[in-house]
Amino acid sequence: MPATYRVTVEPLGQQVDCREDQPILDACLRAGIWLPHACTHGTCGTCKVEILDGEVDHGDASTFALMDFERDEGKTLLCCARPRSDVTIEGDVEVEEGVTTYPVRDFVGTVAAVEDCATDTRRLLIDLDHDIAFNPGQYVSLEVPGTGVSRTYSMANPPAESRRIELHIRRTPGGLASDGWIFKTLAPGDTVRLSGPYGRFFWRPARTEPAICIAGGTGLAPIKAMIRHVLETGADREIILYHGGRTAAHMYDVDYFRALEEAHPDRFRYRPCLSDEQAAGYQTGLVTDVLAAEMDTCRGHVAYVCGPPPMVEAALRTLMAKRLFPRDIYREDFYDAS
Ligand code: FES
Repeated sequence: MPATYRVTVEPLGQQVDCREDQPILDACLRAGIWLPHACTHGTCGTCKVEILDGEVDHGDASTFALMDFERDEGKTLLCCARPRSDVTIEGDVEVEEGVTTYPVRDFVGTVAAVEDCATDTRRLLIDLDHDIAFNPGQYVSLEVPGTGVSRTYSMANPPAESRRIELHIRRTPGGLASDGWIFKTLAPGDTVRLSGPYGRFFWRPARTEPAICIAGGTGLAPIKAMIRHVLETGADREIILYHGGRTAAHMYDVDYFRALEEAHPDRFRYRPCLSDEQAAGYQTGLVTDVLAAEMDTCRGHVAYVCGPPPMVEAALRTLMAKRLFPRDIYREDFYDAS
């Protein structure tokens, strides 16, 4: 039996039990204590905290995300750190207005559909064995069978659809999960194991400004969840979506969003953008260039940005040049989830 230690999370003063083989982040999220995290595998540094007391094993934390001098200063990455004694940590546990924290749970799923929806892009529908509660934009962690590793994918379904999740997956050549499994052998009827919800990239109900959503490739998934949630719950919000792909063949759900635009002309506008070709019905150029040409200023808006890191960085620069502050921009970088 693995030993169990007591983890105290300051400044909340809340305590959770954590097994010696369990990442401290996992124990906290399962107990409903939200702490910042993104990649969940030791590369982004989002979950870095200070250890006030006790010993941890830093696990697979990359030396870039957690440098040697930081280890010496008593910092750790919670997604990798496992306790070696009772531990006290200090984390950024600020809770936002109107946001509920949902504890992480384990699920057994059955694949309901596998669809090639665009070049090197698949849509998975997975039926869960029980309901998942989450904020629109959050992600799940899917176990890759027989490997002992997991990959994270955002849910594209709104929280109201709590028994069937929709994932969008881009193929990474040679990738363990995509090339080696999802684009190879995964089929309807297969059983999968996953956990969730994770992540801080989700719709902020307290932000009432018009929303600018910018998505690159399968960065569309969490944005789709947000847009569906807002429109289907009748929330009084205006949203414009810029979705970018290289060619029309790389785009998906175009007809879906066009229909949504027709159904909600006052609340939703859709701008599909192609960077590498011209085609009828699409804007031409990078999403950021199209946005920059269309909007004189972004002042008075809130932005949600999701996609590959270079696109996210470009979007941030464009939005800030158009008078949006970092506090008005919510972002999710897609780390290599091959
Ligand atoms: Fe822990 Fe990314 S390093 S969440």
